[in-house]
Amino acid sequence: MDTQLQPDRIIIFDTTLRDGEQSPGATLNVDEKLAIARQLARLGVDVIEAGFPYSSPGDFEAVQKIAQTVGIPDGPIICGLARANRPDIKAAAEAVKPAAHHRIHTFIATSDIHLEYKLRKTRAEVKAIAADMVAYAKSFVDDVEFSPEDAVRSDPDFLYEVLEQAISAGATTINIPDTVGYTTPTEFGALIRGIKENVPNIDQAIISVHGHNDLGLAVANFLEAVKNGARQLECTINGIGERAGNAALEELVMALHVRRQYFNPFLGRPVESEKPLTKIDTRQLYKTSRLVSTLTGMLVQPNKAIVGANAFAHESGIHQDGVLKNKLTYEIMDAQSIGLTDNQIVLGKLSGRNAFRTRLKELGFDLTDQDLNKAFVRFKELADKKKEITDWDLEAIVHDETQQAPDLFRLERVQVSCGDHACPTATVTLRTPDGQERTDAAIGTGPVDAIYKAINRVVTVPNELIEFSVQSVTAGIDAIGEVTIRLRNGDRIFSGHSANTDIVVASAQAYVNALNRLFSALQQQEPISAQKSEISVEPVKVSEATPVQS
Ligand code: KIV
Ligand code: ZN
Repeated sequence: MDTQLQPDRIIIFDTTLRDGEQSPGATLNVDEKLAIARQLARLGVDVIEAGFPYSSPGDFEAVQKIAQTVGIPDGPIICGLARANRPDIKAAAEAVKPAAHHRIHTFIATSDIHLEYKLRKTRAEVKAIAADMVAYAKSFVDDVEFSPEDAVRSDPDFLYEVLEQAISAGATTINIPDTVGYTTPTEFGALIRGIKENVPNIDQAIISVHGHNDLGLAVANFLEAVKNGARQLECTINGIGERAGNAALEELVMALHVRRQYFNPFLGRPVESEKPLTKIDTRQLYKTSRLVSTLTGMLVQPNKAIVGANAFAHESGIHQDGVLKNKLTYEIMDAQSIGLTDNQIVLGKLSGRNAFRTRLKELGFDLTDQDLNKAFVRFKELADKKKEITDWDLEAIVHDETQQAPDLFRLERVQVSCGDHACPTATVTLRTPDGQERTDAAIGTGPVDAIYKAINRVVTVPNELIEFSVQSVTAGIDAIGEVTIRLRNGDRIFSGHSANTDIVVASAQAYVNALNRLFSALQQQEPISAQKSEISVEPVKVSEATPVQS
């Protein structure tokens, strides 16, 4: 890790597993978080904000496991979020401790609107708490990041004072959040410049930015911040996160890569320097995007910059003609640079277990023997139906087999009958958590509706299907279909995903996966939404947790 306080490159701080996971329905379990963290390490992010350890035992466990397994000496810094109070900070310190490089990120709001209605504290109190809690965090780790939440709507003079105190207390990164996604590029750039000019000890900390995309300006705001001195960008894969999400990592990284000559001088480099501005391996971007989308159930819109299905597609004749003559006519970047064309046909019916294991290793999947066996069975089944198996097919199989929706209900069989003169009817057999096999049947408006009604007759947990989508993994009539669904129970959203060459089976399996997540949450009575929204709406209970009151 680059320890310089004013590095001549941009530090990428990924918060997919913390702010990203705050997206409604994006809840991930520990194994899924680990899979994403491993891929983020392969992608080359500098910092992984792995979660908010105090918020739930599950979050604590995930951060700790990521610290143990991904926080290796030449790996990324593992960071835990904590409100500015002792219990939060202690939990974060304990969770990140196993990592070779670890950070505590603590925050408290500084805008008057948050002080008056949320914290019910004076400016003097908040300033003292910020300094005290940074010092407390510092008693556990050297690397402390401090965020004045809602910085953009805070009085700049008060903000400067809080930042100065936080740096004096030991913060080595100060992060400026646009919590409500309100600012515009020129304003945000000016705010960063103001901080550089008015916080006397700012040279002892790295300036970071964090921003939400409510007005669709997060990436533009960050790029302006870079021009004005920000050196760390907090972002998420596919831009997921609270409400409209966060600044998208892939967009920031590719903007800095494609336009490096424009940005070089702002980082004190010669214009023509070809040295990368970030440490990201851009060829891992597409793969990371797919992994996050599959595991969170948050689909990527086709026209999404960089990783959307249409991002490199040329539809109009004029464009196609130009690209055929010379790619540069309409392409500013190469699909290969984000790993989009690394889709080789690798295996077939005759490939054995060794070839399968080797290719998965090359793709970065290190499966346990048990998972490998399960995935190999799926591969053989697929190879019977599909002549050529590509890397993307392999990824779909592995994601499907290792997507750890708790196995409470298991789909044993599904059968549908439908047609233009038939009443869609489905029969399903599920294994229930107590090991019984139960079969039921239902009619519906279509085959999927009939399947879901039949499954509901067995599972009997109230839920409303709010999203259903089918996408093909590769081209061709024998392609694998990926089904992603989201369902609602009260104010909670759960996602499910499955991949199969038979989309009827994938639809049934995706639904069972989502119901298993819902069922497991009900069993644990884990108030998922309440806990997560606590970050932004609940008063921070610092008074009983800290002796600091001025
Ligand atoms: O949006 C925000 O302000 C946050 C802070 C916790 C950094 O996510
Ligand atoms: Zn945020």
